[in-house]
Amino acid sequence: MDLGLKNKVMMVAASSSGLGFAVARNLALEGARLSIASRNPTNIQNAAARIINETGAEVLPHVMDVKDPASIASWTHKTMDTYGSVDGLLINAGGPPSGRFDDLDDSRWNEAFELTMMGTVRLIREVVPHMIKVKHGSILTITSISIKEPIDNLLLSNVMRSGVTSLLKSLSTDFARYGIRVNNLVPGLFATDRLQSLDLINSGEWRMTLEEVRKINFSNIPLGRYGDPDEFGKAAAFLLSDAASYVTGETFIIDGGKTRTVW
Ligand SMILES: NC(=O)c1ccc[n+]([C@@H]2O[C@H](COP(=O)([O-])OP(=O)(O)OC[C@H]3O[C@@H](n4cnc5c(N)ncnc54)[C@H](OP(=O)(O)O)[C@@H]3O)[C@@H](O)[C@H]2O)c1
Repeated sequence: MDLGLKNKVMMVAASSSGLGFAVARNLALEGARLSIASRNPTNIQNAAARIINETGAEVLPHVMDVKDPASIASWTHKTMDTYGSVDGLLINAGGPPSGRFDDLDDSRWNEAFELTMMGTVRLIREVVPHMIKVKHGSILTITSISIKEPIDNLLLSNVMRSGVTSLLKSLSTDFARYGIRVNNLVPGLFATDRLQSLDLINSGEWRMTLEEVRKINFSNIPLGRYGDPDEFGKAAAFLLSDAASYVTGETFIIDGGKTRTVW
């Protein structure tokens, strides 16, 4: 199937590694032109070089922190200066810190709100006016299965990501008149650096080897393994592309069957 991504301009936030990188790479494999961004200049330059080497795609790397409104604005301006238009936006960032109710003071709540909720709001606020002008665009967020099954010790993620999911559903109705689609892709457990560090923490806390921790996690996943980030990247590329032209306002879970909810 041709996804229709050839020469389309895709902005991919938090894409120097992990799921964001996999999305950027798959968009490039489909012929898209990329604007990729993350906080660390070396990381994002290296990510751009890897994608260019593998795919020959046009890739613009930019330093951007989702918590910093000025850097979001400068990333958008740079993209528009370079390409003149934007067809798609992937919204992504690191997750909010862990903790239960008693662990979290106001500053923690405010930081998580700034990162996860306001980061999403500000990315959309900067990019959408350019999509409205051409009455075309696709926005995709990465959230977490915590929106379906709250995760112990991740209260901030549970709350903020549910808020983001609700925001997207509301915006999908508002933006449909401009030809802009808005969807949400929810990862289960994917083998990224972040999951590797979580497994290492659990291996210390549970006094188990890394293999034993993984065996327990795999036993809760019907497909019996972690997802490969590339599997996430392919699904995201489809949702961002015109091949998904009648899909909007939806939340999709990609988790090897881990989530047991019917809806
Ligand atoms: N992997 C999973 O199984 C899983 C499951 C559920 C939810 N998630 C969520 O999915 C998202 C991506 O996860 P991941 O596993 O790909 O994480 P990761 O491997 O830790 O990668 C995070 C990426 O985000 C960038 N980044 C982090 N904070 C940023 C910020 N404030 N502004 C801009 N860029 C930022 C990092 O690059 P720099 O260091 O260069 O900034 C890096 O490229 C996270 O929100 C995570 O909580 C992941």
